[in-house]
Formats: sequence, C-alpha cells, structure tokens
Amino acid sequence: MEDKEKIKSQISKLEEKYKDSGQDLSSYLDGLLHQRYLTYWDYIHLDTLLSLQVPRTHFPDEEIFIMYHQITELYFKLILHEQKQLVDDKSDNLAFFIEKVRRINSYYTVLISSFSVMIKGMEREQFLQYRMALLPASGFQSAQFRMIELYATPLENLVHITERAQFSSESTIEELYEHIYWKRGATDKDTGEKTLTLKQFEYRYTPRLIRIAKQVENATIYHKYLSLPKEQRQDKTLVESLKTLDINANINWQLMHMGSAHRYLRRDTGDIEATGGTNWKEYLPPSFQKIVFFPELYTEQELNNWGKQWVDHMLNPDKSRVE
Ligand code: HEM
Repeated sequence: MEDKEKIKSQISKLEEKYKDSGQDLSSYLDGLLHQRYLTYWDYIHLDTLLSLQVPRTHFPDEEIFIMYHQITELYFKLILHEQKQLVDDKSDNLAFFIEKVRRINSYYTVLISSFSVMIKGMEREQFLQYRMALLPASGFQSAQFRMIELYATPLENLVHITERAQFSSESTIEELYEHIYWKRGATDKDTGEKTLTLKQFEYRYTPRLIRIAKQVENATIYHKYLSLPKEQRQDKTLVESLKTLDINANINWQLMHMGSAHRYLRRDTGDIEATGGTNWKEYLPPSFQKIVFFPELYTEQELNNWGKQWVDHMLNPDKSRVE
C-alpha cells in the first residue's frame, strides 16, 4: 500500500515535470516500457574504449606504450575536470578549494607511482624499433598537459626562465605565449630549429591554447589563491596541498618521466635518435625549466633549488622523490 502511494506521488511529480516543459508524460512512459536495460558495457562504452589501442608495428610492447599514454591522458582529463570547477567556483569556500587540490594530488600520485609501467615495463630493444614507426609523434604534443599549466598559473610564470624577468602581467597574452617555455623543447639539438613535432603541435593547438589563456586571464588557480582573505591564504592545509601540487606537477612527474627517457634513449656514445634528435637532455630537467605554479609559496632559496633533486634521482631513482 505504502509502495502504491509512493508510485502515485512519483507519477504526479513526473506529470508536473513534463507539463512544465510542454511534454506528454504518457509518451515518455511508453518510451520507458520499451527501453532496454542499461548494461555496464554500454554505460562506459567499453567496446569503444578497448578498440582504441591500435599498434603501428608488430612489437607486442608497443601496446603497453599506447595504453599507458591513454591512461595518462584520462588522468590529465580528471585533473582538468577539478581545475575547471575551481576556476569557475565563485563561492570562495576554503574547504572546497582544499578538496579540489587534494583530488588533483591524488591523481598525480597515481601517475607518478605508476610510471614504472614505462620505465621497467617494456623491452628496450622493442621500444627502440617501434618508436621509429611513430615519429614525429611525441607525448610532448599532449595538449591537456599544457592546459593543466594554463589553468594553474598565469602565462608570465610559464615564460622560459631565461626571459621570465622581462615579462609581467602587463604583457599581452600573445606576447607571453610566444615566449612560453615549451617552445624551446622539441627543437633540433644541433641546429636549434623547431622540429616537426613542435611545428605540428603549434599549428593544431595554438588557437585553442590562446583561447583558454584568455578565458582564465586573472582567474587561474594561482589568482584564486592570491585573492583569498589573508587568514585563508595562510591556512596550513591549503598551502601544503598547493605546494604538493606544484611539486607533483613540476618536479616529481618530470623526474619519473625523465627516468623513462634515460632508460630508453641514453647511450654512452651519443643519444639514440628515437626522438628525431631533439634537445631533450637540456630541455626536460625540472631544474632547467623552473616551472613553478605558485611562486609566492616558496622562499628564494627554495626557488633557486627548484628541481635540483634530478641529479640524485638519475643516480638513485627510487629514493629521490620530493615529499
Ligand atoms: C618510454 C617512455 C617515454 C619516453 C622515452 C619519452 C620521451 C620524451 C622526450 C625525449 C621528450 C622531450 C621532447 C622531445 O624531445 O621529443 C618528452 C616530452 C614529453 N613527454 Fe614523454 N616520453 C615517454 C613517455 C611519456 C608518457 C607516458 C607521457 C604521458 C602523456 C609523456 C608525455 C610527455 C610530455 C607531456 C612531454 C613534454 C614535457 C615538457 O614539456 O616538460 N611521455 N618525452
């Protein structure tokens, strides 16, 4: 009896809902009657997902390489999902801020700790052969990686370290973008020319990245932090979680990633050409890039020593992560 009452009440609520939008409830009930039950595999589009790993060579380890990149891109998407909510939030609620940053850090923790799938999980001999079939494609061309940076911090903090002091928030987005640090990566190590990897990335993504930079002008996560009232800005949990995010994104992930580059590409007599002969050794180390999302949170000495652990890390990869 109680159930019948409940159903009646649900039906009258549905009637209201459909009436309000000029729809006929009875037709929708017919639709419900004919609809198939939802399955797990349809809901998450499992067949599509599992059809997306398409190697270009016959080396079995290439599939690991593809899949780990795809997994990483999905985690990047999760990070962006949290960042966008933070940037859009108008409530200035401290607990919300801390929770979003905590989630982002938990995604980075997964990415950093799972990098051994790349570093230890493939045969070097296979890698060096199938990698040649993928040129000039490179993870360097990950647009989501660049978007995470744009949401986190103003463009002037992403200008190449050797030029950063010459720019400020007064500079235009276009000017800053032209001097963004990653334009110095994926260049030919002998001539300094941009490689096709970089040129294609610029051609495909410049309009989109500029649009995002304009959209979050004065509204990045760093701006959000700086505009909090003083006592919230000093909140220990918030400060610690933002520093952890900075170190995860700009040091620890880089260290693990460089571990892969060294394992597969380093050779005593010159580096292997599987990158197309790029300047990766000078470009990738975090202490050379010095990308810091939230500079105000550090002392001058901390900033000067940014990412210096990479030398220790190269010598002892399991022990030198920054906590
Ligand atoms: C065996 C594994 C890997 C190797 C050997 C490798 C190698 C490299 C190299 C040499 C570069 C510098 C750009 C260039 O010279 O082409 C680079 C950049 C990059 N790779 Fe990888 N990579 C590996 C795995 C990954 C994975 C799994 C991802 C995940 C998406 C990734 C994302 C990136 C990103 C975002 C950059 C640009 C980093 C920056 O600008 O600081 N890489 N990679």
